Amino acid sequence: TELSKIRNFSIIAHIDHGKSTLADRLIQETGGLTAREMTSQVLDNMDIEKERGITIKAQTVRLDYTADDGLTYELNLMDTPGHVDFAYEVSRSLAACEGALLVVDAAQGVEAQTLANVYQSIEHDHEIVPVINKIDLPAAEPERVRKEIEDVIGLDASEAVFASAKAGIGIKEILEQIVKKIPPPKGDRDAPLKAMLVDSWYDPYLGVVILIRVIDGAIKKGQQIKFMQAGTTHLIDRVGCMRPKIEQLPELGPGEIGFITAQIKEVAQTRVGDTITDAKRPAAEPLPGFKEVQPVVFCGLFPTDANDFEKLRESISKLRLNDASFSFEMETSAALGFGFRCGFLGLLHLEIIQERLTREYDLDLITTAPSVVYQIQLAHNGGEMALHNPADMPDPSRIAMIEEPWIEAVIYCPDEYLGSILKLCQDRRGIQKGLTYVAGRAQVTYELPLNEVVFDFYDRLKSISRGYASFDYHQIGYREGDLVKMSIMVNSEAVDALSMIVHRGTAESRGRGMCERLKDLIPRHLFKIPIQAAIGGKVIARETIAAMRKDVTAKCYGGDISRKKKLLDKQKEGKKRMREYGSVSIPQEAFIAALRMG
Ligand code: GTP
Repeated sequence: TELSKIRNFSIIAHIDHGKSTLADRLIQETGGLTAREMTSQVLDNMDIEKERGITIKAQTVRLDYTADDGLTYELNLMDTPGHVDFAYEVSRSLAACEGALLVVDAAQGVEAQTLANVYQSIEHDHEIVPVINKIDLPAAEPERVRKEIEDVIGLDASEAVFASAKAGIGIKEILEQIVKKIPPPKGDRDAPLKAMLVDSWYDPYLGVVILIRVIDGAIKKGQQIKFMQAGTTHLIDRVGCMRPKIEQLPELGPGEIGFITAQIKEVAQTRVGDTITDAKRPAAEPLPGFKEVQPVVFCGLFPTDANDFEKLRESISKLRLNDASFSFEMETSAALGFGFRCGFLGLLHLEIIQERLTREYDLDLITTAPSVVYQIQLAHNGGEMALHNPADMPDPSRIAMIEEPWIEAVIYCPDEYLGSILKLCQDRRGIQKGLTYVAGRAQVTYELPLNEVVFDFYDRLKSISRGYASFDYHQIGYREGDLVKMSIMVNSEAVDALSMIVHRGTAESRGRGMCERLKDLIPRHLFKIPIQAAIGGKVIARETIAAMRKDVTAKCYGGDISRKKKLLDKQKEGKKRMREYGSVSIPQEAFIAALRMG
């Protein structure tokens, strides 16, 4: 395709503002799919994505659109992940485009992720086409939102399209604006091949499929290519695009977006942001902006039933086939037995993986306290270590200094919730950096230790703002912290899965809260159970669970035998979900619930 007829764009939006619905409409309007083929949402192709309404993996679709000027254009729509945990993938998707549709919900207005994404888009010199979506809603205030886009973001929204992706209003106008406003890509067909690796995923039939944006040159079947950052070479066996069904093509030329396959077995061999070039006639330099993503949040995953360990290993390995950003290695815990220490890009990423393991692979899991990566400088010139697991924390006498990762967070919320949000951030050791008001909403910037955010910050933020606050963050590096390891002892035995690294100043209240919650979460036993929180052998909080006699069938008065059996089965079921600590049984839910701070 001629460069002048190509338009590459992505859709940027806050979660739930209608990105996927709009993408589906654009596909339908341009005939990519018949109405019958339109399942509820084509682009979000994993069950969990559908259920949570989150786009995890970027996907792209090619649309042929015949515009009012009578010419047919190749539109490449790139879907970007909607969540902060996948920020780097978003940035590569944006780098592959010349423009973006900015979708804003006509009832909700501009939100934190709208802002974060739009600023990134502006950094990539995108032409931005504002779309005010959901105008069919009774609560829609498109004029107010138009003004908000102008005041808050500083974009000209005078030609913003008023649309409803759901009702199919404004779709044609959006397509026209894409053609008219977004510039065509630039590129040189005669230069050596240079293409960006935008995304990759594992397909059971095709192997690893790689999504690329060709910058210069062309890429064809049978060509020997080289990944410039990874240093590996591969033979291309397929070139094509998605409409969204896969269509093979003779080549992808400059400016085009499409996919290749090259008999690659694992996505881990393909790094997002890498530059693909011709092995025989390589480009002089790789594309700028390559970054290797590193997991930032770690936790242990253990099967509730020790016999499921092999099944867990297989399931984790399968998931990893399709997600190179997630890491795992075997771990043993005195209390939980064999399991895996896993690394994630963020909390949401952790939840997604955990949920897939539970749901798709039918595993009962215990998740230990999520932990960030600490940098420890050992005393007596002992060197440095990266601490992924609180259980591995060296004795305090061996530690010269501990550093923890910090983030800069931007929170966007209606005015009335600001007070409680500031308090939350303050309680989490936050340092306020800025506060501005626009159109009755506050935008507050905080620096926060990531370790204070990984447990339940999102949940708390949502609950104190009744769901109205939105949040976005990025890492800003390591800082020294006065951190200690807090152990939890149940019946005088340390439960390693519950030990965590905390700031000394908050250790006591954290410890007290934890003991109080565990007291309610652990059922009574025939003997009394002390629960203690301790730092280096010194107990800082204590609760006691009173003893109790427990005979579940006693209430049945020897009556209905099937009822009695049911109760016994239920008790057995309850047993299965418990972990034994010495003589104490701790229910699975307790591990996660205990970590939520009051
Ligand atoms: P993420 O994938 O989580 O980023 O969300 P998204 O931005 O892709 O939003 P999605 O398309 O999944 O839409 C979110 C919800 O809004 C869904 O329940 C849609 O049915 C609904 N929705 C989308 N567009 C419209 C619209 O124009 N009008 C109305 N009333 N609802 C809409």
